[in-house]
Amino acid sequence: MKIAIPKETKVKENRVAITPDTVKELIKKGFPCTIESGAGENSYFKDDVYTAAGATVASNRKELFANADIVLAVNPPSAEDIASMKKEAILISFMYAATHPDLVKACVSAGITAFSVDAIPRISRAQKMDALSSQANLAGYKSVIIAADALGKIFPLMMTAAGTIKPAKIVIMGAGVAGLQAIATGKRLGAIVEVSDIRPETKEQVQSLGGKFIELKGDDSVKMAGGYVTNVSDEFLKNQQELIAKHVADADIVITTALIPGRKAPVLITEAMVNSMRNGSVIVDMAVEQGGNVVGSEMNKTVIKGNGVKIIGESNLPAMLPLNASDLYAKNISTFLYHLATGEGFKWEMEEEITKGSLIIHKGVAVHPSVKQS
Ligand code: NAI
Repeated sequence: MKIAIPKETKVKENRVAITPDTVKELIKKGFPCTIESGAGENSYFKDDVYTAAGATVASNRKELFANADIVLAVNPPSAEDIASMKKEAILISFMYAATHPDLVKACVSAGITAFSVDAIPRISRAQKMDALSSQANLAGYKSVIIAADALGKIFPLMMTAAGTIKPAKIVIMGAGVAGLQAIATGKRLGAIVEVSDIRPETKEQVQSLGGKFIELKGDDSVKMAGGYVTNVSDEFLKNQQELIAKHVADADIVITTALIPGRKAPVLITEAMVNSMRNGSVIVDMAVEQGGNVVGSEMNKTVIKGNGVKIIGESNLPAMLPLNASDLYAKNISTFLYHLATGEGFKWEMEEEITKGSLIIHKGVAVHPSVKQS
């Protein structure tokens, strides 16, 4: 079961799917590894460290794909790369298949099997494979760090001979994986942190981290399933916007992480709310790739709006922490691989929950409900 680890080609992607430590473990379990030359460079792992761990280093990308039984990547490879793969080979990477029909088409044309790590169900048994959570956790931390860097003031209360500096105020929208880590990071740095989330159970989690919970009035339009919000009405969002407006107007930093899986991100921060913020305030819209929680945010850009409010729309925060992000991703994806295969061959059962949830294309046929129709 030969594994190939290609160099990531997405702009500003610094992560690598497999680290030298994971190479050692894979080889011990019967999976010989070949890594494309330079694949680990931006994560601070040079080729010779992979060689020392037992991997082969390849410089011909086409051959790397053509010889592999399993390709492990962070982002999906190009259609051309996929076309080089053997029919019986499998690809494991982030795919966001429902919104990337061309990628699905490429896998179908090549007749390969593809699993998407973003579709692995968030159940306890799959926690160690949960790459969405491991990366969102790091992204939540980094969102606060980049906001702190962009803000022209410090976070903690400081009493000096020249006067007292008041602590910075952060408003965080959404207390899921990224939001909770952002709260913890903001608190560690000494800021006052206020938080809004639709799920009532998040109140206790927010408070246990020292955050102040902004109470929302629930209504019948809020639907939940499996611990996720699945629907909210426009009216609910309007009421929420009115309630949080005064908190946002008074904030130095707003970080938005609100997500409804499979949907466009809900708009939480309107243009009027941006205009109400002070000159020099900072917003980080973490949901920018899903359409954004903030009116005016732009993907991979920092734009200045209103009275001089910086809106940061960085879509790949984990790539800014490549050492940790690659390390955790390698653990997630290798654990997922051991779920699907041994060194002797594949062992998955099509109906098993984790396999079924993440299997997008099986031997050239689109099987996942999110892509079947398209
Ligand atoms: P999650 O599903 O764990 O958390 C999302 C939270 O948003 C949930 O707690 C949910 O209840 C809440 N929410 C939904 N509607 C809301 C509303 N109207 N008001 C307040 N809260 C609401 O998701 P996770 O993993 O924390 O990711 C959050 C967002 O960050 C996602 O959009 C994700 O794609 C994005 N992300 C961005 C990264 C980047 O580099 N920019 C990296 C990782 C994640």
